[in-house]
Amino acid sequence: VSKTTKKASFSVQNRAKNVQELLQNARKRGLSVGFVPTMGALHAGHCSLIESAKSRCDWVVVSVFVNPTQFAAGEDLDRYPRQLERDVELCRAMGVDVVFAPDVAEMYADDAATTVRVGGLTERLCGAFRPGHFDGVTTVVCKLFQIVPADVAFFGEKDYQQLMVIKRMVRDLLLPVEIVGCPTVRERDGLAHSSRNALLSAVVRSRAVALYESLVESSRVVAAGERRAATIVDRARAHISASHPSRIDYISVVDACTLEDVERIDGPTRLCVAVVYGGCRLIDNVALGAPVGTG
Ligand code: PAF
Repeated sequence: VSKTTKKASFSVQNRAKNVQELLQNARKRGLSVGFVPTMGALHAGHCSLIESAKSRCDWVVVSVFVNPTQFAAGEDLDRYPRQLERDVELCRAMGVDVVFAPDVAEMYADDAATTVRVGGLTERLCGAFRPGHFDGVTTVVCKLFQIVPADVAFFGEKDYQQLMVIKRMVRDLLLPVEIVGCPTVRERDGLAHSSRNALLSAVVRSRAVALYESLVESSRVVAAGERRAATIVDRARAHISASHPSRIDYISVVDACTLEDVERIDGPTRLCVAVVYGGCRLIDNVALGAPVGTG
């Protein structure tokens, strides 16, 4: 994507049609568009996606939309942090060009009857514990891609399964957008940045660092030569259990492409964890064989 001279004036949009027109005009003028889809409550992880978009594209668009269809009944849709004014100010300060912040009615007709579903990949890991979650994600991201004609869209590797599912959707539907995965950004003690961290009490938050510690330790053990996935999982489970989570959904060593469980760590693999602390479901992952940064 070539970078040419800018610059749009900053705007906040809530109508899909206006955003489409604005960006189609920009593209006609030869400007490249980078897109960072978010559910708001922006944190350092989102900032790094925005920085990546700025470094590659002329215009940067951030969407802020808490997508109801990716939350199952009983999940934390109502509790999910919402702070649009703060998000808008952050985007303005970071040099974002357009914030798209639609309401639910703008994104979903009352009688909407179309779902975008990626098979296979969505049935494992989080998909097995959050039925329908990825259908909600792919449906909304596909719609966002219709609204924001982006050259490149940026997603965090913290949501590794989501990243793989979106890449597959884009490939299968021949969507003309490049998907870029960006490294997980961590807090000082290693906990991955997540909008949900704001919902953790100080005590619970300090226990949740066990997730990061188990990734680092697993990486170290694999680097030292361990190849048995079961050994890695057992060690990680023991460490995480000692931090008294409310629930462990999964601790899995999976093939980095298919997300299927592996018995041995021979090719590219990923250790993925999903654990609930104090009512807050946290996920994290690491490529085994590679060091985990705290960046
Ligand atoms: O990762 C997220 O914040 C959301 O799942 C996404 C991709 C913005 C879709 O709602």
